[in-house]
Amino acid sequence: MKYFMLNYGCQMNESDTEHYAGQLVEMGYTAEDDFHHADIIIINTCCVRESAEKRISGKIGKLKAVKAKNPDLVICVAGCMAQKDGEKLLKKHPQIDIILGTAYVNSFKSILTNYLKERRGAAYTDLTLHQGEFEGKMVRKSTFSAWIPIMYGCNNFCSYCIVPYVRGRERSRGEENILSEIKAAVKKGYSEFTLLGQNVNSYGKDTGSGAFSNLLRKADAIEGVERIRYMTSHPRDMGEDVVRAVAECGKVCENFHLPFQAGSNEILRRMNRGYTREKYLELVAMIREIVPSAAITTDIIVGFPGEAEKDFLDTLDLMKKVGFDAAFTFAYSRRSGTPAAVMEGQVPPDIKKARLHELMAVQNEESLKRNKMLIGQTVEVLAEGPGRKDDMWCGRTRTNKLVFWPVKDKKYAPGMRVSVKVEKAQTWLVKGTAVESG
Ligand code: SAH
Ligand code: SF4
Ligand code: F3S
Repeated sequence: MKYFMLNYGCQMNESDTEHYAGQLVEMGYTAEDDFHHADIIIINTCCVRESAEKRISGKIGKLKAVKAKNPDLVICVAGCMAQKDGEKLLKKHPQIDIILGTAYVNSFKSILTNYLKERRGAAYTDLTLHQGEFEGKMVRKSTFSAWIPIMYGCNNFCSYCIVPYVRGRERSRGEENILSEIKAAVKKGYSEFTLLGQNVNSYGKDTGSGAFSNLLRKADAIEGVERIRYMTSHPRDMGEDVVRAVAECGKVCENFHLPFQAGSNEILRRMNRGYTREKYLELVAMIREIVPSAAITTDIIVGFPGEAEKDFLDTLDLMKKVGFDAAFTFAYSRRSGTPAAVMEGQVPPDIKKARLHELMAVQNEESLKRNKMLIGQTVEVLAEGPGRKDDMWCGRTRTNKLVFWPVKDKKYAPGMRVSVKVEKAQTWLVKGTAVESG
């Protein structure tokens, strides 16, 4: 029996997908790359923007013909869109057998087992269900880098965002469970760990299990761990204790992803972000003082309802003042059920597009400038794999910059540490020569 898996959305979804794969393997399934030959297809979905939903709907639509040819095929739609639309999806796409909401990751195996007995389709979307620790098998995609969820859900309710509605309230995992998952993965050869949560800075606040910075320090002390990353941080909750932990913990990478979303205080207020542009700039200054080598990246939304030209100029200005290593820029997408969806002053698509292009042009120039500063330096890279052509390998620096270098006669393996002398810089990557590895 074979499974085909399709994943959309953020790292949390990628992590969930690894849990689904593990449960399927426990049930005797093997992975299959061609969905025409699969006995079960799982689509793990995202609904953060309309564009994601459209793409996924198109994919689900195409599966109708596949199911018609193979009526025994099981189609399971999981994740955030499944959570949001539940029964509606089943009605719209009768080829779907199981709708699996975001609180059912750990129950997938038993739900599927039941389904195979009775062959009765259903939607599981109770979001209040609090699952215990995942104790089953996990099939990780990478052989050296592991996603480690440290908390689920989000309590922030930024006014544009659907995530709190489809992922439920914040639940932190116990520190012991997290640390033992990391230790177990180290034994299997993993060396890079990314701690995941929608707002990692509020880790432990719901359980009283201790601050995020303590968790970083404890993870840092685990033997065999080489690199620790985390995402995402909320600028409102990012404290000096975390910045100091990054500075003092040798394994925690000096890479700060701090989405600022908008540069205008009025827009930030209506986004319900809980900080001002002045506070954000103070935070950046603090980071640069305590961790001078830090790379800072961000997420930005353009065209939030009521965003006037002067608000957009504030965003551009903040972007120029900070000088980000990279920025992920998005056109505001109206998500029904969120407060911003019914706000006045929805911005026309062509204006959003023009603003997006302007931001990207500024960021591309900045990214190139920052990458050029690496020329002549020797950087520590964790090898990921061959590039598109086999004569180059690629990997990432501690600051998360993508590095390419020619293979020559040396053999590399994913997870290997390589020193690369940077010679050329582009907007999205740098290229160089390996000077040693080990
Ligand atoms: N919890 C994380 C990530 C949330 S989703 C955080 O708070 O940073 C990732 C990014 O998608 C957000 O940072 C935001 O920039 C963007 N995003 C979320 N909702 C959006 C919407 N309705 N339209 C456009 N972009 C959105
Ligand atoms: Fe969405 Fe805001 Fe929560 Fe991030 S912090 S997931 S943007 S509500
Ligand atoms: Fe998308 Fe859900 Fe992640 S909406 S961004 S997959 S939490």
